Amino acid sequence: ASAADFQHALLTWFDAHQRRLPWRDAPSLYKTVVSEFMLQQTQVKTVLPYFARWLAALPDFAALAAAPEPQVLKLWEGLGYYSRARNLHRLARAVVALPAPPRTAAAWQTLPGVGPYTAAAITSISFAAPAACVDGNVVRILARLTADPTPYRDSATAAKAFTPLATALLSPVRSGDHNQAMMELGATVCFRAHPLCTVCPVFSFCAARRSGEPEQFPRLAPK
Ligand code: ADE
Repeated sequence: ASAADFQHALLTWFDAHQRRLPWRDAPSLYKTVVSEFMLQQTQVKTVLPYFARWLAALPDFAALAAAPEPQVLKLWEGLGYYSRARNLHRLARAVVALPAPPRTAAAWQTLPGVGPYTAAAITSISFAAPAACVDGNVVRILARLTADPTPYRDSATAAKAFTPLATALLSPVRSGDHNQAMMELGATVCFRAHPLCTVCPVFSFCAARRSGEPEQFPRLAPK
């Protein structure tokens, strides 16, 4: 089985089963950036009403850049981790000061609040950049596909270890959809406990499923 076979199985499933989310509907760079900041430590279900209010009040980078900080924090109130809101505000001010928004993951990572995961999400979704998103969900999927026995020390170490494989598997033509399909698979099928292997679009690629004990992966580091 090749990377192309994996991409085909994953994307066919995503096209049929993806959730209709507001940032996927008439997508724009701004909607992608705001949604990725909100989703950094918060579940989709919680983000939905905040995202709608935010877009209504601050519809684009220029509006956000011009907004007073108290308004920005008020719109974020309840989502927690307020540094995300402050960074997003600073990011909007930096973006409007540029002749054009950056288009590469490396350039986005120089902006406030943007790490490797968020840079890959923004640039793959908005510019089809060949950047793979690796968060905890993606680590779990890749550790299971390969039945990787390594007990990673922490999530950052695991994310780094799986970045080459995530990159090798990434669709060269639909990188944004591929990344979102991996997130969707982690959120709706490849659960930490009781994964739904019988409905998984990539079960035939999965060594952990063949082992009969998919929940054994990823391994936990001994404390
Ligand atoms: N989590 C982080 N980014 C996401 C996205 N674009 N769609 C769904 N869940 C996500």
